[in-house]
This record gives sequence, C-alpha cells and structure tokens, in this order.
Amino acid sequence: MTSTPTHYDAIILGAGGAGLMCAALAGQRGRKVLLIDHADEPGKKILISGGGRCNFTNSNTTPDRYLSANRHFAKSALSRYTAQDFIALVNKYDIAWHEKTLGQLFCDGSARQIVAMLMEECPDEYVTVSLGQSITDISHSDGQYQVGYGNKSAFASSLVIATGGPSIPKMGATSFAYDIARQFGLKVVEPRPALVPLTLGGEETLFRSLSGVSAPVIATCGKTAFREAALFTHRGLSGPAILQISSYWKHGEPVSVNFLPDHSPDWLVELKRQQPRLHLKKAIAELLPSRLSETLIERIALAGDLGNLADRKLEEAARRLSNWRFMPNGTEGYAKAEVTAGGISTADISSKNMEARQMPGLYAIGEAVDVTGWLGGYNFQWAWASGYAAAQTL
Ligand code: FDA
Repeated sequence: MTSTPTHYDAIILGAGGAGLMCAALAGQRGRKVLLIDHADEPGKKILISGGGRCNFTNSNTTPDRYLSANRHFAKSALSRYTAQDFIALVNKYDIAWHEKTLGQLFCDGSARQIVAMLMEECPDEYVTVSLGQSITDISHSDGQYQVGYGNKSAFASSLVIATGGPSIPKMGATSFAYDIARQFGLKVVEPRPALVPLTLGGEETLFRSLSGVSAPVIATCGKTAFREAALFTHRGLSGPAILQISSYWKHGEPVSVNFLPDHSPDWLVELKRQQPRLHLKKAIAELLPSRLSETLIERIALAGDLGNLADRKLEEAARRLSNWRFMPNGTEGYAKAEVTAGGISTADISSKNMEARQMPGLYAIGEAVDVTGWLGGYNFQWAWASGYAAAQTL
C-alpha cells in the first residue's frame, strides 16, 4: 500500500553527476530535496568514467565544444559554473588530480572520490536520497508534481529530470528522460549514440584485420576535424579521434582520415628527388605502423622505386594517405556509446535555469538535454553546470 505522499520543495530524478550537483546546491540553499534513482548506488557513470579516474572537467571548456540544435544554448550555464569552479570544489576536498592531455583533468586516485564529494555536499537535513527504487508514475496537478517510487510517493512544486540518456543500458541507463519530457509536452531531438566506435562493412571489412593498430591522425567529417589517435578494432574504427568525429557523423557520410598529418601533399615527390632509389613501400613503412602501411599500400596499388614512378602517381598516393575516405556502415550503438547526442529540445527550456518554458517547475539537466560535449571531461562539466543553473532557482 502506498503511504501518504511526503512534501518536498523539489524532486530530482536521477542521481548521476547532474542530479547530485543539483541536489547538493539546492539543499545548500535550504531547499528540501528528494533525489531518486533506480540504481543501488549514486553516480555509477562517474565511477566507471575515465578508466575509474573520472575525467571530471576540461580546463579548455568553451561552448563551441558542445553539439546542440541550438549552439548558443550551453553558453549561459557554462559561464556561470566553470571548470575552475569545479576544480575549486575538488581542491576543497583535497582530491589530488592531474592534467593528462588537451586540458583533461583526472583524479590521481579514484572516481569514487568525486561521488563521495558530491554526496558529502548534500546536506543531510535537506537532501533525502532514495536508491534502488523504480519510479512508478509521475503526474502534475494544482502546480504540484507527484512521483510514485517503490511503495512511496512524494510531491513538490519542482521536478528535475536528470536521468541522462540511454548510453550503456547495462548500467541502468534508460530513455526515461524523454518519456517524462514528452508526457509534459516537451519535444525531443532524435537521440543517437555519440562518442562511439564506427563500424566498417563491405570491402572495408579488410581493415578489421588491423584490429589493435593505432596511429595519430586527423579525422574529418564535413567541416569538423580532430587530431588525435585512431584505433582499428575488430569491428571498425575507434580511438579518441574517431570517437570525437562520431558525434558529428551521420549515416551515409564518409569519414576522412589523414594518416600523415604532418606531411605536405608533395612529400613523396620531394622524397623522389632526394632518394630516387627508395622503394615506395619503404618510404611509407617508415612513417606508419607496419601492418597499417602494408594494408594501405596494397589498396593504393602502386609499387616500385620512387624514381620510376610519375610525379602525378606519387601525388595521388600522398593525397590518398592524407585523405583516406572510410564509409562507416554504422556505429557500435548505445552499448558502446559514451554519451547520447540529441535529447530534450533546448527550444523548450530556458538556457538560464533549465526550466521548461511551458511547464513551470519542470527542469531538465545533464545528458538528458540536447547538449553533448566533446570527449575529455566536457560532458561532466555540462552536468555540473546545468545542475548548478537549475539549483539556483529551485
Ligand atoms: P547519468 O547517466 O550520469 O545519470 C543518470 C542517472 O539516472 C543514473 O544514476 C541512472 O541510474 C538514473 N536513471 C536512469 N533511468 C532511470 C529511471 N528510469 N528511473 C530512475 N533512475 C534512472 N564524461 C566526462 O566528462 N568525462 C569522462 O571521463 C567520461 N567517461 C565516461 C565513460 C563511460 C564508459 C561512459 C558511459 C560515459 C563517460 N562520460 C564521461 C560521460 C558522462 O558519464 C555522462 O555525460 C554523465 O554521466 C551524464 O550525467 P547525467 O547526470 O546527466 O546522467
């Protein structure tokens, strides 16, 4: 039997990075908050993030490192809660951290420290955490949101959707955020797996034999390019450069990979002048991992000493190496996607406090919203910043 509903100022659905941050800050402002999650512990994605060390922010955070139907949307929240603000919090708890590359900040120790810190930030007298309970129903009447969970129910004038996106369902990720949003008339931008390995099929399956080989490349899709490592897998392409570009990739589009990002288009012709007796195979093999160079040379179908090959042919070979066009036939899907792009439409929520325009008291934060960061700590920074923005007006 369901007990009498308990009253709170705000109910937050989802105890991930965004929900925890929002609950902590709203609690610190003296709001009575109920934080509900169906998982048996909070911040599960934080715990597995960054290989267990949580890449908790990026010191180069700028709004242009986020994808959204409205590219201006994230500006307001990101400017009011910055990477420096989160670093100050981490420092307050004496959590040791280091910068890896490209502004990516990781814990020296464990991601558990971040979850423990966020839980510690939630004042006991104001924040009630309910874990391991399914949410059974949500309704709204007379300006109050009522939520049934387990065999209990609660009501509040504010309801925050912080249940993330469907990436990594085996960890309890769901599309629940979109269902609630639709229930209250908010639009959802078609969600899709992002920061995800790409798969190769057809005649490109031969690249699968390179599984385990990695190389520094520039991966380009449309006007977007990332210079980082690419990794061949038994299903296709992965590695940071590919994960980054996957967020911009759409079915039917090619991904161009520059295997020689530091070489000019005429490097082979110049080399021919200097070393005409050097074999093309050797010239390329000196620059790339051997299995990769063998496969690429085989596909280029050009052989012989440089001096015996026409400039035009060498220019064409160099062009192919710097613009290898892969036609991915898909992605590895939500099972392997680090995040979900798309989500609750930013057109329906305020960029200032994340509140629904047509549904007072309803908020959406974190990955549930159509804001997706690059790889490298940007997604947590969005979780913290959007959680902060909502907490200011709860
Ligand atoms: P998040 O998904 O964290 O939390 C949602 C919560 O809602 C979960 O606790 C879930 O259990 C709960 N929930 C879902 N459905 C529910 C339902 N129906 N009922 C009740 N509760 C429900 N980002 C980054 O910046 N740096 C990094 O190092 C990494 N590393 C990383 C590694 C891996 C393997 C993954 C999968 C992802 C990352 N990310 C990352 C991305 C990052 O984890 C992600 O963007 C944030 O966790 C999003 O935070 P949210 O709070 O919005 O959702």
